[in-house]
Amino acid sequence: MTIFVTGGAGYIGSHTCLELLKNNYEIVVADNFVNSQPEAITRVKEIAGKDFPFYELDICDEAALDKVCGIHKPDCVIHFAGLKAVGESVAMPMMYYENNIGSTMKLLKAMEKHDIHHIIFSSSATVYSGKNTMPLTEDSELGCINPYGWTKFMCEQIISDAVLANNNWSAVLLRYFNPIGAHESGLIGEDPSGIPNNLLPLLSQTAAGKHKELPICGNDYDTVDGTGVRDYLHVVDLAAGHVAAIKYCTSTKGAYPFNLGTGRGTSVLEMVSTFEKVNNVCIPQRIVERRPGDQAESYADPSKAEKLLEWRAVKTLEEACIDLWRWQTNNPNGYN
Ligand code: NAD
Ligand code: WQD
Repeated sequence: MTIFVTGGAGYIGSHTCLELLKNNYEIVVADNFVNSQPEAITRVKEIAGKDFPFYELDICDEAALDKVCGIHKPDCVIHFAGLKAVGESVAMPMMYYENNIGSTMKLLKAMEKHDIHHIIFSSSATVYSGKNTMPLTEDSELGCINPYGWTKFMCEQIISDAVLANNNWSAVLLRYFNPIGAHESGLIGEDPSGIPNNLLPLLSQTAAGKHKELPICGNDYDTVDGTGVRDYLHVVDLAAGHVAAIKYCTSTKGAYPFNLGTGRGTSVLEMVSTFEKVNNVCIPQRIVERRPGDQAESYADPSKAEKLLEWRAVKTLEEACIDLWRWQTNNPNGYN
């Protein structure tokens, strides 16, 4: 079976390409490197010991998609390509709507033209409103507070409508919680440009001495120790979730959302102390103001994925911290 992976040079995409190759899928990959490096593709090939076709193209480019779909006739598409920085989406909403929604529309159109009717979409836990009680189930209330989140919400709707209109289609909408860590080889990992916004890359860069201290954004939340609680899952587990989703998507009709998380909440302070302990490092830290828009807690009820996709996160927080630190120390400047 051939899988077309959009955004395959990115953080989650590169780990998923590897997992697909490990499971003997044929893959075709496309990325425009707007937030990634060609080296990621080279390293995926190196770790897997396999080659695959790669196209440097924009998923908003209809003619380019037409060509790739026509040549390779994939059975299923995993659509990772998208912009993902929440703050940037507030500053440049049109760029986010154009890229994230535009790419999804062009992709669906090209897929329809070439009779490809299975899509797995990278959605996010950010589609859940802040008014829910934890854990979040797929039926929890939806609602977003920034353009990035709305692009995910709208793409879920667009894909669901396409599926509803044509019963050849099937879609799996994967709502990721917080992916962290890196492949155990230390060869691929997250390579954010500039100062990272997310906790884990900032934490590991601070441990490496790249930043003076780690800001802990609020210690007065109603949580176990006052700091924000999230559901952190190892990126390799998340990648395996996509392989499980292919089996479901290609054997079921309809559009279905699934939470991909561990079901466990971890506070910022718990995360920092775990990273320090397993890696024997010290992370200078300082309590600062809450980050606007942040919720106290967010964690998944992953039971639907466990039951229907037969997938569950198996790697520990400790493993994720060790793998992240290996990636950080082996690649102090990311892929550069
Ligand atoms: P990433 O930025 O590392 O990967 C996305 C990839 O898509 C990049 O390689 C980028 O160059 C590419 N891309 C973007 N727009 C493109 C376009 N128009 N044409 C071709 N390529 C394009 O991000 P990631 O963390 O790997 O996330 C993958 C997907 O999962 C994204 O859609 C993201 O919104 C979603 N997601 C990520 C997280 C997270 O915390 N990392 C959480 C939930 C959902
Ligand atoms: C985690 C915790 C912060 C930075 C974001 C997006 C979301 C999704 C994943 C794509 C929170 C705290 C953070 C720092 C801190 N992306 N923190 N100091 O906010 O759960 O989710 O990334 O879909 O859409 O919003 O993840 O890693 O930014 O924050 O104390 O310097 O760490 O307050 O409690 P978040 P995060």
